[in-house]
Amino acid sequence: MFTNKAVIPAAGLGTRFLPATKAQPKEMIPIVDKPAIQYVVEEAVAAGLTDVLIVTGRNKRALEDHFDRAFELEAELARTGKTELLQQVQAITTLAHVHFVRQGQALGLGHAVGHAHHHIGDNFFAVLLGDDIVVHDNHLLARMITTSERHETSVVAVQEVSDDDLDRYGIVDAVADPNDPESLIVRDLAEKPGKAKARSHLGIIGRYVLSPSIFDYIAATKPGRGGEIQLTDALNAQAHDAPMRAIRFTGRRYDVGAKADALRASVELAASRADLGAEFKSFLRDFVAAMNDETL
Ligand code: UTP
Repeated sequence: MFTNKAVIPAAGLGTRFLPATKAQPKEMIPIVDKPAIQYVVEEAVAAGLTDVLIVTGRNKRALEDHFDRAFELEAELARTGKTELLQQVQAITTLAHVHFVRQGQALGLGHAVGHAHHHIGDNFFAVLLGDDIVVHDNHLLARMITTSERHETSVVAVQEVSDDDLDRYGIVDAVADPNDPESLIVRDLAEKPGKAKARSHLGIIGRYVLSPSIFDYIAATKPGRGGEIQLTDALNAQAHDAPMRAIRFTGRRYDVGAKADALRASVELAASRADLGAEFKSFLRDFVAAMNDETL
């Protein structure tokens, strides 16, 4: 197997979601009834990545507890015959081999990924941002892994973004490859360049498959935008020395570290649930009808 390793950075301060993130990681914010990070770990496992390293920070305890056994709770669920809930709770602990490393100071995404070096060693690995939920992914991660293996390069996932978003995303300058319609050839990456400097509208989303040489580039990366050690800057240096690929993502995804996106994710995922969907959609229809009446 090309790689079974995933790194999930989850050590950011989550200031956009205060006050909920004052004492808990934003990756633990529930979307319907699962914390965001569980969706992300499940996506990694679905792509064959069963060795998962979560980079945590100061408020890490809830993340570790979530993937650990909960003996008292399990005993109580067993005693009261709540078998389905018991299975759900136990399944979380056997999803993957989950490891943790701590980023002492939140000095940026590149700095967080750098903390995975010891665990990853000289292997290719995937990075999934812990606050980025991909819903209709068309096997995005599996396709990225195949492309990385075929070309022996790092691969980033990109999505068309609007003019207004050019200062919210890392932007990739990439061209088509006549020999491989699946992926683009990356020429340059810039972190949040803004409309004046952006060379395209291809925004980097929170999924990467990286060559292990990225660790050398991260180590050499100076603080960039916002005074943080940016993964995009390290990737740009790597792309200027070695081939790199991008894959277009066309599905739906949510940056659940932002309040509005977390709300959208909750609505969409609740509406599509077999157990909750019918009731929730009926509520939504009434809610929208009442809202329309009010604005008439
Ligand atoms: P964000 O850009 O969302 O940063 O990080 P943030 O600091 O967590 O959030 P805000 O802007 O203050 O609300 C993208 C991902 O990288 C992780 C975050 O946990 C998130 O999953 N990250 C970011 C780290 O692990 N360490 C860092 O130093 C920065």
